[in-house]
Amino acid sequence: MIDINNTKTKNIDIIHMKNEYLEVVVTNYGCTIMKFFCMDKEGQFEDVVLGYETVEQYFQCDAYLGGVIGRVANRIDQGTFTLDGKTYKLEINNPPNHLHGGNSGFNNQIFDYKIIDDVTVQFVYLSKDKEEGYPGNLQLTVTYRLENNRLVIKYNATSDKDTIINVTNHSYFNLSAKKENILDHYLQVKADEFACIDKNGLPTGWIEDVTRTPFDFREETRILDSIELPHPQVVLAKGIDHPFLFNSDTNQITLTDRKSGRRLVVSTTLPGAQIYTANYLEGKIGKYKQKYNPRDAICLETQFLPNEINIREDAEMILRKGKTYESMTSYCFDVIEDEKS
Ligand code: BGC
Repeated sequence: MIDINNTKTKNIDIIHMKNEYLEVVVTNYGCTIMKFFCMDKEGQFEDVVLGYETVEQYFQCDAYLGGVIGRVANRIDQGTFTLDGKTYKLEINNPPNHLHGGNSGFNNQIFDYKIIDDVTVQFVYLSKDKEEGYPGNLQLTVTYRLENNRLVIKYNATSDKDTIINVTNHSYFNLSAKKENILDHYLQVKADEFACIDKNGLPTGWIEDVTRTPFDFREETRILDSIELPHPQVVLAKGIDHPFLFNSDTNQITLTDRKSGRRLVVSTTLPGAQIYTANYLEGKIGKYKQKYNPRDAICLETQFLPNEINIREDAEMILRKGKTYESMTSYCFDVIEDEKS
């Protein structure tokens, strides 16, 4: 079932998508997921993402809560890249680097949308040539579809010039419905490697084996037990804020809150994810008058390796004119049987 509410702002709507298992409240402003309800083991339907009550509160580009991020997610070194011998300069909105597509990234744009059927909404946005410094008119389609206990997001894009693209969703998950922070959540990531970052959060190109590091989530691990380890990379990022490189092409991330019993499995066609333990939240007030502090949520941002355009010769984030970018990420919610001790 899909219901639409207008907001105070012209051309911006709030769309309620609901089935037997999930309720997702999204807006065409940045395709932002404002609320995401799912059941706990007692059958309580609660909201498991951070967000704001009104769309207007998202206009300040605060922490990218729930938005679609692009044209290129995460940082680009000094806001510069070279493609086919031509150097492009992007906005430096996170000095000394470019972050999440700039101050007018996709999370701050109004998408057109249409309701495809009673479980599917399709958003479209034309990112014009030179928008935020990126080359090419990029036609982006983002499709949200409820399939039983899964939200499936499909991204599709074409450009009339060679360009770069790395889109993701920046939802902040807290499976306890914010009764606690996420330090007691358990995380499993099918990744043998992670990318090191510098003091500004920029991936340096140095890829490290996760073995004997706090980044080894190959077995389910309590987040607290990893984040407290005195590893220089965790200290530098004030927690986890790193790209993980998957060793599997399905069900790559599992997040579990044993108390509520809620489990989230993320599956994607993309090769990695930036995992971020909300290290830079600053105590702002969100919906339900809750205060958002570091560790209050975790972002599981599926994507190509950030800054890849300055790291690898044949970067996967390059989209050639006439080719189509396609990716899919799904968020599947269920409950585990009993709290393990
Ligand atoms: C980045 C963080 C950044 C945050 C902003 C994350 O995707 O990795 O470094 O501070 O987004 O909300």
